[in-house]
Amino acid sequence: MNVQSFFIETFGCQMNLHDSEKIAGLLAQRGMVEVGSAEEADLFLLNTCSVREKAAQKVYSRLGEVKKRKGAHPDFLIGVVGCVAQQEGEDVVKKAPFVDLVVGTHMVHALPDLLDEIQESHRPGPRVSTRFLPGPSPVEFPEVARQSSFRANITIMEGCNKHCSFCIVPHTRGKERNRPGHLILEEIRRSVNQGYVEVLLLGQTVNSYRDPDNPRFRFAELLEQAARIPGVQRLRFTSPHPREFQENTLAVMAEMNNICNQVHLPLQSGSTAVLKRMLRQHSREEYLELVDRFRNCGRDMALSTDIIVGFPGETSQDFEQTLSLVEEVQFESMFSFKYSPRPFTQAHSWEDDVPEQEKTQRLMALQSLQREIQLKIHGEKYLGQNFEVLVEGMARDKVQRFGRTTSNKIVNYPGNESPGTFIGVDITKVGPNSLNGQRVERFQHSCP
Ligand code: 5AD
Repeated sequence: MNVQSFFIETFGCQMNLHDSEKIAGLLAQRGMVEVGSAEEADLFLLNTCSVREKAAQKVYSRLGEVKKRKGAHPDFLIGVVGCVAQQEGEDVVKKAPFVDLVVGTHMVHALPDLLDEIQESHRPGPRVSTRFLPGPSPVEFPEVARQSSFRANITIMEGCNKHCSFCIVPHTRGKERNRPGHLILEEIRRSVNQGYVEVLLLGQTVNSYRDPDNPRFRFAELLEQAARIPGVQRLRFTSPHPREFQENTLAVMAEMNNICNQVHLPLQSGSTAVLKRMLRQHSREEYLELVDRFRNCGRDMALSTDIIVGFPGETSQDFEQTLSLVEEVQFESMFSFKYSPRPFTQAHSWEDDVPEQEKTQRLMALQSLQREIQLKIHGEKYLGQNFEVLVEGMARDKVQRFGRTTSNKIVNYPGNESPGTFIGVDITKVGPNSLNGQRVERFQHSCP
């Protein structure tokens, strides 16, 4: 057996996307070549998400499809990595006995050795490796095969020490582990030298970062140092926890113009009673105070959020509280979900008592309110204005290009610039979900 090529398919969050970049780097170092589809590959890896049940179910249907290739190519290997691999371990092989490899979230670095074992044994029995590693820091990946030509994803911490009652992530990613600050800054410098203009700092609760070698070097300090690296033109981070913003983080964000004027503040619910049962560690009022801090920090910050509807015990009055908070804050964008009970979480044992139909109605009401808000913001703040846009690639219509403002708004425009180019765009047309514009020679506002 000669495993020479690989294809990775990724479900889920930016952390998962970045893990796939780390895996691609590892396999390339091993001399393997990345190909464009499972059908061309010797090894197919599915990087999985288990944050909601739907995402976890998708794993087995996708594996079932890919399995067909084994008929004509008996040496074709199938591996499962990521959160479902961590959560289900051996059970993945019980449910899908044709899977050759199951590798958990802490063990990705072991992939090349596991592949060697399979190759050398000539009997590719399944290999399952889902141990959690002790130690204060995650394993380093010296070679990352970045998907983007202009944005460098950079892990600063992994795992989560919170206990939100709906969330499986502490179970699949383990406790917080922080990378030493000097290694993070070195990776940023290296990326900039390679031509990356945007840096995205990643962590499950990114703003609870603490250097394992120096407890005084926390998120704000890291953010400032990162922003001071010459060549970092845009700096973003995700995902922060509302309770973890040090006072000086906002000061650093206000001071450093290359830190994008955008922040994701997961809300989950606008009702203090629900937030309490979610174990979110903040009330409605405390969340609103944080929003005020951002509104008064000296820069115009675009806020985005995550919301769950239909959490156990959520009454229609609780849901009204969510709507009123959304109305009050005026988020620039939102991800919203129906509550999905997850194993290993506290809420799993509670009755999932909001009927499916009610969850659907609440989700639709929330999304329709958010669409109105976005249309209003797009009309008032963006239409007729001129922005700096970083080009990302081909737009959905396959004709125009698209890019992002520093506030993270997607802008479509006719043109042919390559990804990573900064251009000026006049916004000429807006809808609830998109902005359209024309390229112009100059741009005045770097914000938003
Ligand atoms: N059900 C629905 N949504 C969830 N999220 C996390 N866990 C669940 C769950 N059990 C959502 C939260 C989180 C986002 C990444 O996914 O809103 O912020």
